[in-house]
Amino acid sequence: MCGIVGAVSHRDIVPILVEGLKRLEYRGYDSCGVAVHQGGELRRTRSTARVAELETQASTEGVAAGTGIAHTRWATHGAPAVHNAHPHFSTGPNGVARIALVHNGIIENHDELRAELQAKGFRFESQTDTEVIAHLVNHLYDGDLFDAVQRAAQRLKGAYAIAVFCRDEPQRVVGAREGSPLVLGVGQGETFLASDAMALAGVTDQIVYLDEGDIVDLQLGKHWIVARQGDGSHRPVQREVRTVHAHSGAAELGPYRHYMQKEIFEQPRAIADTLDGVTDIQPSLFGDEAVRVFDGIDRVLILACGTSSYSGLTAKYWLEAIAGLPTAVEIASEYRYRESVPDPRTLVVTISQSGETADTLAALKHARAQGMQRTLTICNVATSAMVRECQLAFITRAGVEIGVASTKAFTTQLVALFLLTLTLAKLRGRLPETGEAAALRNLRHLPSAVQSVLALEPQIIAWAEAFVPKQHALFLGRGRHYPVALEGALKLKEISYIHAEAYPAGELKHGPLALVDAAMPVVTVAPADDLLEKLKSNMQEVRARGGELYVTSRGIWPRV
Ligand code: M6R
Repeated sequence: MCGIVGAVSHRDIVPILVEGLKRLEYRGYDSCGVAVHQGGELRRTRSTARVAELETQASTEGVAAGTGIAHTRWATHGAPAVHNAHPHFSTGPNGVARIALVHNGIIENHDELRAELQAKGFRFESQTDTEVIAHLVNHLYDGDLFDAVQRAAQRLKGAYAIAVFCRDEPQRVVGAREGSPLVLGVGQGETFLASDAMALAGVTDQIVYLDEGDIVDLQLGKHWIVARQGDGSHRPVQREVRTVHAHSGAAELGPYRHYMQKEIFEQPRAIADTLDGVTDIQPSLFGDEAVRVFDGIDRVLILACGTSSYSGLTAKYWLEAIAGLPTAVEIASEYRYRESVPDPRTLVVTISQSGETADTLAALKHARAQGMQRTLTICNVATSAMVRECQLAFITRAGVEIGVASTKAFTTQLVALFLLTLTLAKLRGRLPETGEAAALRNLRHLPSAVQSVLALEPQIIAWAEAFVPKQHALFLGRGRHYPVALEGALKLKEISYIHAEAYPAGELKHGPLALVDAAMPVVTVAPADDLLEKLKSNMQEVRARGGELYVTSRGIWPRV
């Protein structure tokens, strides 16, 4: 994922920009860069190495100034290479670089804009969609950067958060957001911009969360925001400055080798924190308005992406079986663009660790535009756009998730969704007192149950070693464990770059079994439930074809 940091100050801001990038580095990136306004010129340094090396590079090259922007890039348009790394420059009529710009998101009409700008004589040095914005701002620049960015924003289609500055206006950075998060940091006589408040931890805790369509003007010790109106024009707006104790997270690796390992081991604590204060099952767990919002709902629509959609898919099994509510789970990036049949008595539930995922936010808006106004989010960031946009919220207490792979966020989402299921079941008269007490007892037992699973790390490491030479893997599950298999396959792909697919085990014989041979590890999620016997038959099918089974059950079975 990409990250943005920007600043306007009297002091040298390069250390702040670099530190901000380090705090965003965990999300994964393939190149990084910083640009400043120095000695009346635009200067930049870019790298495909770690941010620490960019820092050395900047210091060796003497890059230092009070105004600048920085970026970590995850390639979408153009290969990971220095010439595609941000910041991008656009050169003015005199052949001198005039505009520097960084961008998160994707510009959908970049081809059309590129052709238009090339026809006007702009020369492109990268394959990125971002460079198009830099040239567009330059083309529209007429002595006022803020005005140029406002006019450029009207031409952009897609999602973006940008930070831009101009050679002709030394103490000014302009930011804009549409579909990608961007926050303003208000310091003492200095102003900052970042794609995540965490990048500004230790610099300022005074944060303004910009809204969709906002454009912000950062100058020394002052800022100015305009909001987009329905007709595309912009009007000045005051946005609340919040005190946000953003957690840098970076200093606290403790005894762990990396953040993902740390976060896996934080699950018992995260689950216990999420359950803290839950003494009984009641609507107020989800907000003061919950009784009114939940009243009379006849179905649930879950909107989410990636891991969050898999926790949603697990909840579908619970919501239908326990609360008796028909539940649909939609991948947000699909739902937002398709025609569906709305029902105003639907409870729309968004699930998001970050609370800033553009597709999920857009899907929520789409649902609301279709007349579905009852909205709840299960989210890990209390200050996020998702929480602000929904009527109700349940904040999971996973703590900062630094690792790019969702781990403790997934398990805490499941806890929240199970509480939601119990709450809706109770409101619908489907949860007897004894059932409520037993469910709460079981939930309280969860942290220690997870702890005992974590004690299996040595066996899991042995499995991981066996996976190292593999090219592909299959994950199987049945019923509510099928989404867990999906999540396992996603984790393997994302972290190990080993191709993995998940199937409901009963589907195996309808095609994918053809892939199974001695080279194919097959991981099965096989808890001792009422589908175990069926799953055993599926495992026999795998063995018959010589496949190598890895079975997780109550405890872990040896390889068979
Ligand atoms: O912040 P969100 O939960 O909305 O993010 C959605 C997905 O991008 C995310 O769950 C992603 O799939 C995981 N990080 C993968 O491990």
